[in-house]
Order: sequence, then structure tokens, then C-alpha cells
Amino acid sequence: MKATAIAHPNIALVKYWGKRDEKLILPHQSSLSVTLGPLAVTTTVEFTGQKGPDQIEINGKVAEGGERKRVEEALKLVRLEAGAKKKLGAARMVSRGDFPASAGLASSAAAFAALSVAARSAAGFGRDTKAESILARRGSGSASRSIEGGFVRWNRGKRADGKDSFAEQLFDERHWPELRLLVGMVSREEKEVKSRDGMRSTVETSPYYPAWAKDAEREVKEIVRFIKRRDLEAVGEIAERNAWRMHATALGANPPLCYLKPATLEVIEACRQLRKQGVGVWFTLDAGPNPVLLTSATDEARAVALVKAHGASEVVQCRPGGDARLV
Ligand code: PMV
Repeated sequence: MKATAIAHPNIALVKYWGKRDEKLILPHQSSLSVTLGPLAVTTTVEFTGQKGPDQIEINGKVAEGGERKRVEEALKLVRLEAGAKKKLGAARMVSRGDFPASAGLASSAAAFAALSVAARSAAGFGRDTKAESILARRGSGSASRSIEGGFVRWNRGKRADGKDSFAEQLFDERHWPELRLLVGMVSREEKEVKSRDGMRSTVETSPYYPAWAKDAEREVKEIVRFIKRRDLEAVGEIAERNAWRMHATALGANPPLCYLKPATLEVIEACRQLRKQGVGVWFTLDAGPNPVLLTSATDEARAVALVKAHGASEVVQCRPGGDARLV
């Protein structure tokens, strides 16, 4: 009753921002992301068959507070699915990421994806990407998109029980091997408002929210067409526009939510200037200050130099990554 899984984080090109159900983590709109290699989280889960509390260790520390609660919740769902007869008992979970949790990358996405794959396998279930995506979603919405590699769409679904709200792979990581995704670390500070709280406040108070949610469905459809053709310029333009619109709707919240720092804007402006010189580089931005640049293998070195010249202490170089897997 023990299994280990590895999963990668992902970066959304059409973002998820806002829930229609806070408990089940059901989004108002669909979203689309690229799974990021080589960054990874490795998680081992063992069901001990014994009574007692779960033992949860994340990056060498005993998990506490909200983080612990979310993991316990996911383990509880696996026990429920397995049924009382199976007597899984308390779990021991050890999770470790090979990138800093505060990097501004969704480490929780990789963590909950790895947890879902490992826990279901430890409980005796065979691989089932749909069930894994639904379970990962309950830990962190974006985690639903880290079960599979390459280009992944999380369909919002319509059902109240969330059974049709899961992610599926559209193209695997071999579809576009020249694509590069560069995380520019302009700040390592913990953000003041977590995505979870930021999106709740946006849904409740931003007058622009309905327009954002409506637009996203069209943008997902549009970007899929361009990903299929590996059209970097078209994909980059949609990703930038979508990131601006997510931040615009958050800025419209009360109190306003501004995740950008001066260095973020510097990098964004430098991208625009570089494009004028014929270098193919675009940006996207999650709910934090660290921009992620989209570029090709050909322009990678120039894009890295650009971010470094404009305040980034470090650049994490990624490319499309693969499926979450058991090891
Ligand atoms: O899954 P969460 O609760 O970490 O929210 C993720 C929100 C964004 O990263 C801003 C967008 C996305 O789709 O990943």
C-alpha cells in the first residue's frame, strides 16, 4: 500500500481565475496550460492500515495549517473512494520539489498532481487520468492540469458535483519541442494575497469579472488552433492578452489586487522592445510578480539575457514536460 509519483508544474496560457464552487473547486471558465519540464515534485504515499493521524512531510518539514488540511482532505477522498472494507488507515506522505515553493511557479499544482497519482495507486487503484485530475483539482484547481504532459485543457464542466470538471491532454510534449518557457525571478517574496483569496475577492467585487469569464471560453478555442500549428506569434499574443485581462479584472476588485512589481513591468516592456527587433518573445503572468516568457529555442539565449538585464535574479528555463508518472 505504498507508491511514489512524480509530477511537473504547469503554466496557464489561458488562465483559471474564479470559482463557481469554493468547496469542490469548480471554475467559472475553462483554462489551458503547458506542463513544465524538467521541474518536478516527487511524492510518496503509504497507507499504514493503522489508526491515528496522517503523517505529512513537505520539503523536509512537517506540514501544518491550511497546507496540511488540504492534503488530509485529498487523502480522505481516496479512503472514501476505496470504501470502508479496504481499511487503508492513516497515511504517511513525504513530498519534495526540486524547485523553490516560493518561485512563483505553481508548486502546489505539481504537488497535488503527484499526491493524487501516488495516493490512488497506494490505495490499489489502476491509473485513471480523469479520476486523478478530479482528485488533484480538489487540492488546487491548477493541479488538475498537471496530471498529463504537453498542452492540457481543463474543461469547466457544468455539473454541480464536478464530475465533468477535469483536465485532458490535447497535444503531448513532443508536439512542440522548440517551445521554451522562461520564468524570470524578479521577486522571491511570498505574495500578500494567495490566488485562492484573490480570485474569490475578484469574483465577489470586480465589475469586470463576468466579461473575463465569458471571454475565456473563446480564448481557449482560439489558442488551441494556434498551438496545433505551433504558431508562436499567435499563441504569444493570446497569452499576453489573457494575462493582462486576468490582472485587469483583479485590479477591478475592491480592494484592488495588484500582483505586479516595477521589475515585472520592466521585463514586459523589454519584451516589446525585443520583438520590434525581430526576436520572438512574449510573456504571461500568474498571480505574482514573476513573468514567464514564451519563446523558441532559437531566441532562448536573447530572452534569458533580456530578463537578467531587467532585474531578474535568476531565470528558470523550462520546456514542455511529460505526464505525471509512477516510479
Ligand atoms: O490553482 P490555484 O488555486 O493555485 O490558482 C491558480 C491561478 C493562476 O495560477 C493565476 C492561473 C492558472 O490557471 O494557473
